[in-house]
Amino acid sequence: MDMFDFKNGRLFCEDVDVNTIAEQVGTPVFIYSAGTILDHFDKVDRAWGEVPHLICYAVKANSNVAILRLLVNHGAGMEVVSQGELFRSLQAGADPQKIVFTGVGKTTAEMEYALRHDIFLFAVESLPELLRLNDVASALGKTARFAVRLNPDVDPHTHAHITTGRAVNKFGLDPDSTIEAYKRAKELSNVVPVGIHMHLGSQIVSGRPYIEAVQKMLAVVERLDQLGTKIEYLDLGGGMGLIYRDEQPCTADELIGEIKPLVKDLGMTIIMEPGRFVVGNGGILVTQVQYVKEGPVKRFVVVDAGMNDLIRPALYGAYHRILSTRNVGPEMIVADVVGPMCESGDTFAKDRRIPAVRSGDYLSIMTAGAYASSMSSEYNSRPKCAEVLVRGDQFFTIRHRATLDNLLCNEEIPDFLGQPLPEKT
Ligand code: LLP
Repeated sequence: MDMFDFKNGRLFCEDVDVNTIAEQVGTPVFIYSAGTILDHFDKVDRAWGEVPHLICYAVKANSNVAILRLLVNHGAGMEVVSQGELFRSLQAGADPQKIVFTGVGKTTAEMEYALRHDIFLFAVESLPELLRLNDVASALGKTARFAVRLNPDVDPHTHAHITTGRAVNKFGLDPDSTIEAYKRAKELSNVVPVGIHMHLGSQIVSGRPYIEAVQKMLAVVERLDQLGTKIEYLDLGGGMGLIYRDEQPCTADELIGEIKPLVKDLGMTIIMEPGRFVVGNGGILVTQVQYVKEGPVKRFVVVDAGMNDLIRPALYGAYHRILSTRNVGPEMIVADVVGPMCESGDTFAKDRRIPAVRSGDYLSIMTAGAYASSMSSEYNSRPKCAEVLVRGDQFFTIRHRATLDNLLCNEEIPDFLGQPLPEKT
């Protein structure tokens, strides 16, 4: 259920008029619905029902600390892929015993930081990483709980850039190497195996790749059992897809209903790491039309959001629905919706039929809760935009629009170039 709906021709987020937020906070602005986010988290949580499970929200999807706190208060664990994401999770109050650290390139410093905070699990992606984890843990007098990330070589049938569970991808280890890693771990004194991990890719719409991969995972678990290595946690990663346009993703109930029979009697705890599914439908990006420009072959609606705010269309050719935030009349136009930036890729929609908006009107780019703000940048020296969280009939700024000074906050002019930067105004 998403809580963005029209009332009397005006787009509301829960009980707040999106236009009011845009007027008060300015644009571009990300607007999130707390209710929608929690509802989606609950869908995954409830689908596992009586099967012991832990839902670790994938922080990369949306890492605003208020969103993390919202989920932490709701009982969520966190899946992190960097020291920064771990820092954010801890600042949000996440229980370290519900944190999984994934990623192919954990540095020594990141391992130290995570071990000092006694996180629950490291998903290890290579033998050298396992050896390093053991060394780092040993130097700190700690023991690291780990899961090897299995690369099951399964095609999740999604965009190539977000496919991670095939043999050609850099992620995880093939089944034989996975077994070897656990064998090797027996000789290491500061790492202890507790689980096995996988993540197939993102925006997956069918249960089939999961079933195939879980079967491969269980075959590995059985081999490990024969070797005397007991696995208590099956981490199935994230990946559940959403409707951006006309996809027909299976629901959480359908997907988990398919996986459950394979795992429910094993006496293990399931970990899932949904990101997009939890926050994707819970956010929009509201932008103001600056100009409508009639070209010789096309019409362009130029808005004040850019690819620095939402890069998915430019990076993946991703489709996001675009709606007018208020009724501007029955007339429709066909236009490219473009940002102000200096690249032709700075395009949110091509030849899209949209209401006949004019300068000053607002457009809402939908399904922008996931991989939107968290992938934003300051390219073209555009300060990062504001973020607002709606709960019921109230809204709260959860990230202030960055200032021009913020742009320069870590920059410095060396002496040989003359005058230093003036003190911040
Ligand atoms: N766990 C691991 C280890 C991951 O690498 C990811 C996402 C997730 C969980 C969460 O996956 P989700 O449930 O969100 O599909 N920027 C891309 C998506 C990249 C996903 C990367 N890994 C996009 O905008 O489509």
